[in-house]
Amino acid sequence: MDTAPDLSNFPVPDYIRAIAPYVGGRPIAEVARQFGLDPRHIVKLASNENPLGMPESARAAIARALGEAARYPDSNAFDLKAALAGKYGVPENWLTLGNGSNDILVLAAQAFLQPGAGAVYSAHAFIVYALASQMQGAQSSVVPALPGLGHDLEGMLSAIRPNTQLVFIANPNNPTGTFLTGEAIESFLGRVPSRVMVLLDEAYNEYLDPELRVDSSAWVRRYPNLIVSRTFSKAYGLAGLRVGYAIAQASVTDVLNRIRQPFNVNGLALAAAAAALTDQEFLERTYAMNRAGYRQLTEAFDALGLRYIPSRGNFVLVQVGEADDAGARVNLGLLKQGVIVRPVDNYGLSKWIRISIGLPEENSALIAALPQALQS
Ligand SMILES: Cc1ncc(COP(=O)(O)O)c(C=O)c1O
Repeated sequence: MDTAPDLSNFPVPDYIRAIAPYVGGRPIAEVARQFGLDPRHIVKLASNENPLGMPESARAAIARALGEAARYPDSNAFDLKAALAGKYGVPENWLTLGNGSNDILVLAAQAFLQPGAGAVYSAHAFIVYALASQMQGAQSSVVPALPGLGHDLEGMLSAIRPNTQLVFIANPNNPTGTFLTGEAIESFLGRVPSRVMVLLDEAYNEYLDPELRVDSSAWVRRYPNLIVSRTFSKAYGLAGLRVGYAIAQASVTDVLNRIRQPFNVNGLALAAAAAALTDQEFLERTYAMNRAGYRQLTEAFDALGLRYIPSRGNFVLVQVGEADDAGARVNLGLLKQGVIVRPVDNYGLSKWIRISIGLPEENSALIAALPQALQS
């Protein structure tokens, strides 16, 4: 009989063994199996996806690109980079494409961190900053958040040490939804030592109210130590295709592109992203639906007397009790009723759950299930 090989003596670094694997939102099919539910009646508000689905423009672009699927994709992504370069007014050699912006975060960590180096990020910040830093064996300095759970930029500046090489900032942050103004970020960038790389993660940028949006590519022009990352997974509705990108000056982009896998973004994803990028109508519909959904959800939280963090993303962090297991309990209570949300105990937020903003009827399903789940 075969026995599993004993891997305990393989020379895997301790810092790799110490990594807690990423836990994503539970798939609908899995929840249906576990609770004996009809998958058609399950509502998933767990992964900050676009509930409108993929834009028609992207679907059509995929259909056109399908005939080329036997060929490797364009490793230099000429068309998508040309479109992005035009949008931001930057040269094409300032752009790096990623298999999702997650890939960009990991590339930045691979390029700028190694054992003994330091990374700085906020408590309750997107968990991939911790994962990417840990996998490089870097020392993480996790700066306590402000009382409203936002990033403490002054505290993050103070946490910079001689060995600090990378700072992660999420704006807005997931899972808190907290937001930093353009002035706050600019003041931060002006004071970070120029030898320290800053990764400004703007995965939810397109959900910001127009008056809150800033031209972050202008910061890239001024700060050679800045990488801005964005994604097609959220407002552009392409989470399953995995496309993200970084904007950084040529010397930084050159480094990221050296370590990027040659064909890290597939051809269908490239075609879909190029089409979605110019689909203003879809973006506006997404934005409007998200704002309306935010009002729908937060009015219900207010009526139930639940505390939540004002969010600038497509999700809301809600406190669902005082006990340390409140998040886990209410999550289970919702799962049993066919509503999937995200417990966030792995973010040090065990009394909270994160709810992605869905279609009006999906939000209504969550609102209807919440009172019973709160009792559970
Ligand atoms: C703040 C933030 N950054 C980056 C990502 C990565 O998304 P993707 O790899 O799909 O672009 C996410 C996904 O949830 C996120 O919340």
